[in-house]
Amino acid sequence: MSVILEVSDLQKTFGAVVAAKDINVSVSEHETIGIIGANGAGKTTFVNMVTGYLKPTSGRIQFLGQDIIHLPPRDITCLGISRSFQVPQVFMSETVFENLLMAYAIVEDTGLAMLSPIMSEERASRVDAHLKRYQIEDYRDAVASTLPQGVRKLLDIAMAAVRSPRILMLDEPTSGISVEEKFPLMDIIMEALKQEDTTVLFIEHDMEIVERYVARVLAFYQGEIVCDAPTEEALVDEKVREFVIGEEYHRTRIERAGTETGNA
Ligand SMILES: Nc1ncnc2c1ncn2[C@@H]1O[C@H](COP(=O)(O)OP(=O)(O)OP(=O)(O)O)[C@@H](O)[C@H]1O
Ligand SMILES: [Mg+2]
Repeated sequence: MSVILEVSDLQKTFGAVVAAKDINVSVSEHETIGIIGANGAGKTTFVNMVTGYLKPTSGRIQFLGQDIIHLPPRDITCLGISRSFQVPQVFMSETVFENLLMAYAIVEDTGLAMLSPIMSEERASRVDAHLKRYQIEDYRDAVASTLPQGVRKLLDIAMAAVRSPRILMLDEPTSGISVEEKFPLMDIIMEALKQEDTTVLFIEHDMEIVERYVARVLAFYQGEIVCDAPTEEALVDEKVREFVIGEEYHRTRIERAGTETGNA
């Protein structure tokens, strides 16, 4: 697998707060990566820097061999790194179809056309295919403000994933989603991204989601990556247990594993 994103010696300070320190990460194509860490650990700051929403204090970010630190968010999106935010960024008074149309226009059109998206048959059929990929075609003509929370979240992520980005970074895709809905929602998202060959990094507080959907974990603590390892290894790592997931979750995992193998 070839490296598509290389982050070197990244730092970010806000006055006396060190939000990112000595961040070194290499991401290869087709990886699935979970970004974990307690509140304030620096997870969103990391995503904001990679996607151009925050300028690092120092360091380097290369995407497909190109330096991207000086680029604004839209240029980074156009190059192939997209993201979603913790709070869905949909246009509440527009329909699901119109929202997606707008998402395509923002990436593909220039000038005023971005605000009044060009509607061609070809673009409409791409929007419809995308609706199907994210299994929200039944809501095509529903206004976003009327959508159930899970569907709005799917729409938001579908909007971030228009034009098959090479990398998609999601900030807490399951936040605000019920326990019953979280696995079906993640199944849809991960399958859609797999179909489009998208490398995915997502921030997540729910370790059940991390365990099930990612192969590699980056654990943040006070702005630093304290563990970068395959998921199985990361979830038993001492620092991860101490600073991120807590001993209680660790014990529950061991009990669960015992039950599954009939040893408990
Ligand atoms: N724009 C900003 N101005 C000042 N301080 C900031 C800013 N953004 C983040 N910080 C600080 O940087 C640190 C890291 O914040 P960040 O939002 O990256 O944490 P996080 O890991 O995403 O937390 P959460 O799980 O709560 O979303 C925190 O101490 C936060 O208060
Ligand atoms: Mg955050």
